[in-house]
Amino acid sequence: MEEIIRLENVTKKFGGLTAVDNFSGSIETGSIVGLIGPNGAGKTTLFNMMSCTYPPTSGKIFYQGVDVTKARTDSMAIRGLARTFQVTKPFGDMTVVENFMVGAFLHTRDKHKARQQAEEIYEYIGMSCGDKKCANETTTVDRKKLEIGRALATKPKLLLLDEVMAGCNPQEKLELVETCRKIQKTGVTLLVIEHDIKTIMSLCGKIIILHRGAKLIEGTPEEVANDPRAISAYLGEDYHAGC
Ligand SMILES: Nc1ncnc2c1ncn2[C@@H]1O[C@H](COP(=O)(O)OP(=O)(O)OP(=O)(O)O)[C@@H](O)[C@H]1O
Ligand SMILES: [Mg+2]
Repeated sequence: MEEIIRLENVTKKFGGLTAVDNFSGSIETGSIVGLIGPNGAGKTTLFNMMSCTYPPTSGKIFYQGVDVTKARTDSMAIRGLARTFQVTKPFGDMTVVENFMVGAFLHTRDKHKARQQAEEIYEYIGMSCGDKKCANETTTVDRKKLEIGRALATKPKLLLLDEVMAGCNPQEKLELVETCRKIQKTGVTLLVIEHDIKTIMSLCGKIIILHRGAKLIEGTPEEVANDPRAISAYLGEDYHAGC
């Protein structure tokens, strides 16, 4: 299988703090991969480097075989990388559909086309707040969907989801899992950060555990769930026991 993104010996230092420590790994095109680990493990920092919000201190990042280590965020969006934000960042005074239009404008300057695409995304993502609702007035789950929808409107090939299920109830999480699967079926590759272990294990074909900035283990959900290193660093004995 082809890889859509590859990181080689990537390190990120913030002053004296090493947030990501010599991380190497790749994501296969078409897969759903889970990125998990304790708070502060460096997950979001990895997303920031993949999306070129800032460059690594050292190491290289290749996207579809091209060295993008020093690329800009806008060029990554054009290449097909989209991400959501852990702390949702809607354009608060704009409606939900207008937020989606912002994404759609990446590929068209035609306002009517952008609106049509945004309305399609509104339906596709299953929002219930009303398409004319001001983004600031939406519920947690709709804000999460808004993040996904705005990213989807840019027509991504690789979608990075940073805790889109956090703060959602079990039913809403199930819905979001189905949404992720639906997106994957259209050929989009997904890299998903989540703390809900049960949910992430059920969604992903591969799991990467990040611990203190470094990759602790990578494997299928089963392999990871039964690995003593994963249990002691993050999952805990309860998960091992199948609770
Ligand atoms: N811009 C920054 N400046 C300084 N330190 C930072 C910066 N961004 C992140 N860090 C630090 O880097 C480490 C990794 O942070 P990061 O946000 O990547 O963790 P995370 O795995 O996403 O955690 P969480 O699960 O809590 O979201 C933390 O110690 C954090 O405080
Ligand atoms: Mg984070």
